[in-house]
Amino acid sequence: MRFAAAHALCLILGGLTVAAGGDSNSPWHGHGPGAGDECTLVAKGHGIDDAPQLLHAWQKCSTISIPAHTTLNIATRLNMTGGRDKHIDLKGALRFNPDIPYWTANGFPFTFQTQITFWILGGENIVLDGGGLLDGAGQAWYDAFAANASLLRPIIMTLYQATNVLVQDIHMLNSPEWNNFVNEGKNVTFSNINIQTFSTSKNFFANTDGWDIYRSDTVTIKDSIINNGDDCVSFKPNSTNIVVSNLNCNGSHGISVGSLGQFPGVFDIVENVTSTNIQMSNAQNGARIKAWAGPNVGSGIVKNITFENFSELAVDNPVVIDQCYETNATECAAFPSNTYIQDILFKNIAGTGTSTKVASLACSPDGRCSNVQVDNFSLSSPAGAAVYACQNVNLTGNAASLFGACTVT
Ligand SMILES: *[C@@H]1O[C@H](CO)[C@@H](O)[C@H](O)[C@H]1NC(C)=O
Ligand SMILES: *[C@@H]1O[C@H](CO)[C@@H](O)[C@H](O)[C@H]1NC(C)=O
Ligand SMILES: *[C@@H]1O[C@H](CO)[C@@H](O)[C@H](O)[C@H]1NC(C)=O
Ligand SMILES: *[C@@H]1O[C@H](CO)[C@@H](O)[C@H](O)[C@H]1NC(C)=O
Ligand SMILES: *[C@@H]1O[C@H](CO)[C@@H](O)[C@H](O)[C@H]1NC(C)=O
Ligand SMILES: *[C@@H]1O[C@H](CO)[C@@H](O)[C@H](O)[C@H]1NC(C)=O
Ligand SMILES: *[C@@H]1O[C@H](CO)[C@@H](O)[C@H](O)[C@H]1NC(C)=O
Ligand SMILES: *[C@@H]1O[C@H](CO)[C@@H](O)[C@H](O)[C@H]1NC(C)=O
Ligand SMILES: *[C@@H]1O[C@H](CO)[C@@H](O)[C@H](O)[C@H]1NC(C)=O
Ligand SMILES: *[C@@H]1O[C@H](CO)[C@@H](O)[C@H](O)[C@H]1NC(C)=O
Ligand SMILES: *[C@@H]1O[C@H](CO)[C@@H](O)[C@H](O)[C@H]1NC(C)=O
Repeated sequence: MRFAAAHALCLILGGLTVAAGGDSNSPWHGHGPGAGDECTLVAKGHGIDDAPQLLHAWQKCSTISIPAHTTLNIATRLNMTGGRDKHIDLKGALRFNPDIPYWTANGFPFTFQTQITFWILGGENIVLDGGGLLDGAGQAWYDAFAANASLLRPIIMTLYQATNVLVQDIHMLNSPEWNNFVNEGKNVTFSNINIQTFSTSKNFFANTDGWDIYRSDTVTIKDSIINNGDDCVSFKPNSTNIVVSNLNCNGSHGISVGSLGQFPGVFDIVENVTSTNIQMSNAQNGARIKAWAGPNVGSGIVKNITFENFSELAVDNPVVIDQCYETNATECAAFPSNTYIQDILFKNIAGTGTSTKVASLACSPDGRCSNVQVDNFSLSSPAGAAVYACQNVNLTGNAASLFGACTVT
């Protein structure tokens, strides 16, 4: 029955040649869905789960259209991996039904940071666009998390083993957890994404990162607006060749490399990352790099990272390197970080902090940071004269004089 219903909703594009569909041996009447077909989905309504028809269209159609004013009710998980030459034209919405017991038991799990997700999307040559909405229906999750701090909450969209992907002109609302996870991706672009997160109760929308990049190469994130409650963009282990530009981040924890080097025996690489033209407002951090130190941690390399053209407004820590992450001074001196940091540029960083300390570049002892350049800083604080702190690093650049001599531990 579901097949027949799904078929009835698959409209063949005018002008399509017969080669694209209409196999005479197919079980379909007339044109069955085949390569080149466009399928248009209509919500079943009455609380019926639309995930099966969306999955069916993903298997059978090259273009999947969700028209304006159509909200698909996604009540079961979406495994949309291994696709090829797919276009999801989302003008309407996908709303992820907040059935907490269902998702905590059935969300796709990832060992990395113990995450789960509603949706894995992967394969090759995939476009998701159309101006529509991914609605995480997060309020129920924010309220449940307030009562259960170990509650697993689903990421809206995980690009998993995805190559040559474009996500553009998409709104994301109230994710229960991270908004976008790029896991083992290559050549992925996000453009014109509008992320909004808010709570109508007293409970906060925790861990709602904009993007987390992991084991991925060649990722671009640009021209987007993010209003959330955790990292705006986070470069996790093995993020390489990344450009982030023209973002307006509000209320976040900033743009962050790391934390890296946490797990013994694991080597983390973050290399070739540029973040530029960033408006960062009401945030915990602006531009940040953090790496673990201590006795039982991992190792890695952070190399060629540029933070350029940051305009910051009311940011608690506008510029940060913390290479003694989660350790105190004694322990960091005994066990300096094995995640080396080199070739770092902070350039054209302007705006306001919230406390007097507007920059803190704290490296582990024993020369674990090298070639750190600071240029053209223009930061002030409403709390008094701006303080620039540095430790165990030789800074270069025209803003180095603001820092003066760095502490050696
Ligand atoms: C998703 O579906 C593919 C087959 O289509 C399967 O190989 C894969 O294991 C599934 N992934 C998960 C996480 O269930
Ligand atoms: C809290 O969440 C965890 C993880 O999702 C779950 O295993 C546990 O049962 C929940 N606890 C309660 C009291 O609901
Ligand atoms: C990268 O992906 C885009 C689609 O976003 C595609 O147009 C482009 O050809 C891909 N680049 C390479 C080198 O494959
Ligand atoms: C920006 O973030 C602040 C602090 O989190 C919040 O109070 C404010 O409403 C946000 N502004 C917008 C435009 O969303
Ligand atoms: C990162 O890449 C390196 C080199 O390929 C590899 O040895 C390491 O295990 C990777 N780390 C992670 C966290 O995947
Ligand atoms: C970083 O970029 C340089 C210059 O393009 C390139 O040679 C190097 O291979 C890149 N590193 C990684 C890890 O991709
Ligand atoms: C540094 O990374 C950027 C990408 O973020 C890349 O364009 C540039 O070539 C890299 N430079 C070096 C010296 O590797
Ligand atoms: C930073 O801003 C300056 C001045 O607006 C501009 O010339 C430069 O191209 C920008 N840098 C990047 C990497 O966008
Ligand atoms: C530093 O941390 C270590 C390990 O947690 C702890 O044993 C030690 O007491 C701490 N020292 C200070 C000065 O807080
Ligand atoms: C320094 O930053 C200011 C904005 O804070 C900008 O107008 C100016 O062009 C920058 N100077 C250089 C040399 O990049
Ligand atoms: C800073 O430079 C001096 C002189 O070259 C060198 O002795 C010292 O080890 C360097 N410090 C760090 C933290 O790299």
